Amino acid sequence: MKGAIGFAVAAATAMFSGVMAKPTFSAATAGTVVDPGTVAEMMVTELNTLNGTLVENPITTLGNTMTVRIHHNFNSNQQLYAYLIGRDRNDVPTVLQSNGQYFYPARVSGPVPTKISAPIGHKLSSKGGYVDIQIPDTLSSGRIYVSEGELTFSAVMSDLGYMSLVQPAFVDPQDVNANKFWGFVEFTLNDAGVFANISFVDFVGLVFSMKLTLGSGATQEVIGLQSDAIQKICQGLKEQSARDGKPWASHCMYRSDGTALRVLAPNIYADLHRDMDNYYDSYVNQVWDKYSREDLFINTQGSRGKVPCRVSGNVLKCQGDSMGFPKPTSRDIFGCNSGPFANTGDDLHRNILARLCAAFNRSELLLSGGNTTPSLGSSKYYTVDPTSHFSRLVHKYEVDGKGYAFSYDDVEVNGQNPAGVVAGAAPKLLEVWAGGRS
Ligand SMILES: *[C@@H]1O[C@H](CO)[C@@H](O)[C@H](O)[C@H]1NC(C)=O
Ligand SMILES: *[C@@H]1O[C@H](CO)[C@@H](O)[C@H](O)[C@H]1NC(C)=O
Ligand SMILES: *[C@@H]1O[C@H](CO)[C@@H](O)[C@H](O)[C@H]1NC(C)=O
Repeated sequence: MKGAIGFAVAAATAMFSGVMAKPTFSAATAGTVVDPGTVAEMMVTELNTLNGTLVENPITTLGNTMTVRIHHNFNSNQQLYAYLIGRDRNDVPTVLQSNGQYFYPARVSGPVPTKISAPIGHKLSSKGGYVDIQIPDTLSSGRIYVSEGELTFSAVMSDLGYMSLVQPAFVDPQDVNANKFWGFVEFTLNDAGVFANISFVDFVGLVFSMKLTLGSGATQEVIGLQSDAIQKICQGLKEQSARDGKPWASHCMYRSDGTALRVLAPNIYADLHRDMDNYYDSYVNQVWDKYSREDLFINTQGSRGKVPCRVSGNVLKCQGDSMGFPKPTSRDIFGCNSGPFANTGDDLHRNILARLCAAFNRSELLLSGGNTTPSLGSSKYYTVDPTSHFSRLVHKYEVDGKGYAFSYDDVEVNGQNPAGVVAGAAPKLLEVWAGGRS
């Protein structure tokens, strides 16, 4: 990653007219324009690496196989490529080559990412067609990438002697791949079966639909986002910035010609920029004030039923939960894994924190009826400010309402479960549609 993380043009209009003079630091209503760097500059973070020891026993036999069928439904006439990565049965990071065998990055010298030049890109068919790719054996923490044009992956040795497979970094507007459209489906294929998801927890890029066919013949489907969702979400975030002056528009990354390529989720954005730090402050104060005067009921949706909670001494305390919740900061709310929402404590505490987080995210706690949560259902989510406008827009452009927009998006009411997951034993065929299905 070179220098600071991104910049934005002073006004959105400058971007679309193609008059990209000198990029200056962002007005809140501007998008972020990508500026690709080199392979050696690729960032090495938790979000874009797969780590493990170097290979000792390469997988050569066919084990638990599955066919992945990748349909080209993306609005582009350029050649698309797919990349399949994951950890093999021995937990070693690997990439499936176009010859159907696993490729293991060789020892590289030192901390500078070195490009993988083996033929790891699978050429996809022309628009409307598909290709089948056979996964020869189990893969965990897997990803199926699809990109417009070829992507660069690299490898690096850590000081501790293990290898990191370095992937395109969606957070970095200066990633070597930053100018390209790409996205991925996550999956794990093991001896018990397959689990695959489309998730918008960290970002939205090239969109996907999925369909899983099991050996039994049963099928499961997730349609996910509309094909042109990125353009629409980014437009919606721009409009939101124009309304509230908050840097929603900067969550989007654009090519210099104005094409929207990716949008970061606010938890990721808020970690990199600090201009959303006070976003939820007054809302949190109002919630704490309200529930110092009346009970908030968390519906644990289990044997504990509805648990009453009350603020006293600035801490929200729930019956039977010894831990209590101090006021969350905006970053705690966006990330949902720090401060009072750190994933610790007993089952009851974690059950409550997931529901409390979800209620903040969806801005339900001051609504009429919001004193029991979850209870209101998705038509009431994101209806008042402040809220996660990213989640609001992602759900708005989902065709079937499926695909997580945040970590506890599986907190459901009346069987509405927005998780974008397909899973099952003895999988036969996993189909993905690059570009979605609408
Ligand atoms: C992999 O290791 C690198 C250091 O080489 C580290 O920065 C990164 O966070 C690790 N990735 C994961 C997913 O833990
Ligand atoms: C999606 O699947 C991957 C791989 O199995 C897993 O690591 C990740 O936690 C899943 N995400 C969600 C939101 O379920
Ligand atoms: C709120 O939504 C963001 C994405 O919009 C997500 O990353 C975060 O985990 C969510 N926070 C809570 C408290 O659910």
